[in-house]
Amino acid sequence: MIDIHSHILPGVDDGAQTLTEALDMLKMAIDQGVTTQVLTPHIHFGRYNNNKQQLLNTFNKFKEAVDKKDLQINLLLAAECRIGPELMQLVAQQAIPWLGEYQQKRTFLLEFPRTDVPYGSDNLVRWLISKNCLPVIVHPERNNTFLTQRHKLQTFIDLGCPLQITASSITGKFGAEAQKLAEDLLVNNQVSAIASDCHNLKGRKPDLLSGFNKAAEVLGQTQSETITQLNPAKLIA
Ligand SMILES: [Fe+2]
Repeated sequence: MIDIHSHILPGVDDGAQTLTEALDMLKMAIDQGVTTQVLTPHIHFGRYNNNKQQLLNTFNKFKEAVDKKDLQINLLLAAECRIGPELMQLVAQQAIPWLGEYQQKRTFLLEFPRTDVPYGSDNLVRWLISKNCLPVIVHPERNNTFLTQRHKLQTFIDLGCPLQITASSITGKFGAEAQKLAEDLLVNNQVSAIASDCHNLKGRKPDLLSGFNKAAEVLGQTQSETITQLNPAKLIA
């Protein structure tokens, strides 16, 4: 499987804090059947002021440590960017570590606050798309506005944004409402990818396999493979 969302890169956000923790998380991901792990630290102005060059340096060091341990996994660097006007600057400065390219557009993970969808977010996404940047909207099932006003999520789907839901949302860890929205999106074929969004070894551990299994119950094995392998491969290409 390909996991396109994780906070394994150590010491850069609220994910893994030490190299040991990061390596243990990676081993756990491998045990889950993950063959490509994308490391997606937060870029969130005022909270996690990460930038591309510093992340790349940390990533290269981490990769060396992984190679020394002889862990068999393909590692990639991208980021999870918080929505905000700063994104326009990041795009202008080419400062986003892109996930890949899909439909001739560069892809990246876009995060909304948990509680709301800031006014004008749709216009910002339109602007991004006009600049050939396609946001993959992460865990919409955990956003209060999307939970209660589904049409607001539909706006972004209609703009062409792929959706990524969190494995542990499907299994119910984020509550019944998030689980229901995740299942609805799955059944309506509106999910492009499931990812772990893992942060640590306990409460938010690498658990993509449980998401895969639960999605297979809902959609069948083939479709579950599509959203854990085929589609993610397209988004990171
Ligand atoms: Fe995340």
